[in-house]
Amino acid sequence: MKYKIILLVFVSYVWGCSSTAVQTAPKLVSTERTINSTPTDIASLHRQSQKLVSPPFLPVHDQAAIGGPRIIEVRLQAEEKMIDIGNGQTIQAMTFNGSIPGPIIVAHQDDYLELTLVNPNTNLMQHTIDLHAATGALGGAEFMKVHPGEQKTIRFKLTKAGVFVYHCAPGGIQIPYHVVLGMNGAIMVLPRDGLKDQKNKTVNYDRAYYIGEQDFYVPKNLEGEYKSYDSSLIAMPEILEVMKGLTPTHVVFNGAAGSLTGKKALTAKVGEKVLFIHSQANRDSRPHLIGGHADLVWQGGSFSSPPVTDYETWFVAGGSAVAALYQFKEPGTYVYLSHNLIEAVLLGAAAHVTVEGEWDNSLMMQIENPQ
Ligand code: CU
Ligand code: CU
Repeated sequence: MKYKIILLVFVSYVWGCSSTAVQTAPKLVSTERTINSTPTDIASLHRQSQKLVSPPFLPVHDQAAIGGPRIIEVRLQAEEKMIDIGNGQTIQAMTFNGSIPGPIIVAHQDDYLELTLVNPNTNLMQHTIDLHAATGALGGAEFMKVHPGEQKTIRFKLTKAGVFVYHCAPGGIQIPYHVVLGMNGAIMVLPRDGLKDQKNKTVNYDRAYYIGEQDFYVPKNLEGEYKSYDSSLIAMPEILEVMKGLTPTHVVFNGAAGSLTGKKALTAKVGEKVLFIHSQANRDSRPHLIGGHADLVWQGGSFSSPPVTDYETWFVAGGSAVAALYQFKEPGTYVYLSHNLIEAVLLGAAAHVTVEGEWDNSLMMQIENPQ
């Protein structure tokens, strides 16, 4: 079936000099375009519902796609809730599906994502979602504005392979406010034939973890103690004041200081290749694995370019997600942190990876001092 769409394009001309600017009225230009790719083509694709899970875990997925492009259905729910960000400090957070970060979605290039965003009537705020993996309409944010009690669905094509951030973007000051209260997550769009190393050879991971770094801006009272609030609306003026200082009071992984340490540490075995997906929706970060490396880093999160090799510390630009792979060679407890060591040690941006296996003396051994 062929059908025609009338495209209405606003064209405006703006020019100015040092002191004045003149703007003409916009001209309305009409063009006709025939589109061959019809909704019927998409409707015939196989559908798959993806059960999202809480970070640091990923949903069940194939590393290389089986068969042709699919429609992946996912459901995200805006949840305004009180959470503990570590050491007993609570905030009135805003989340996707109750976790900070929101769950990671996994699909393949050329798949379609059919995403439903639910805003329960128990919430106070309007929410929406801007997906960096999507094309047009503010990454979907324009189509997905949901008031409490509403839900909306969009479908978009995953044209680019890589890891991408998604976040709430309801407009104006609400954009950074919702993002720094926790409304962000990531999507991994794998190449259809899986990941490739720097020599374009297939590389499979044995485990994958999703680490979402979060900056919080918690106001203090006159005694210098962090404040708690009954709702995110009441908290907003004071939190915005702290935000304007651009100095976070907390920088944590997965919603809370200590959320990935001790008994909640990530785990791996010697010889396993572990993919670390690290997102930061608002600030730059610099992940580092103490005692290990990144064998491969897909810089900027792009899977279309070959990964760089053997990095000590890698860069996550604010508003992006980056994937790094490391094959563990020695057992022990590794610290995965932001190598802004102040943020890691004083503010909370650190995780542990507990690795089991046989120690390899050829890589390192302790030499005792001669007596
Ligand atoms: Cu929101
Ligand atoms: Cu964005």
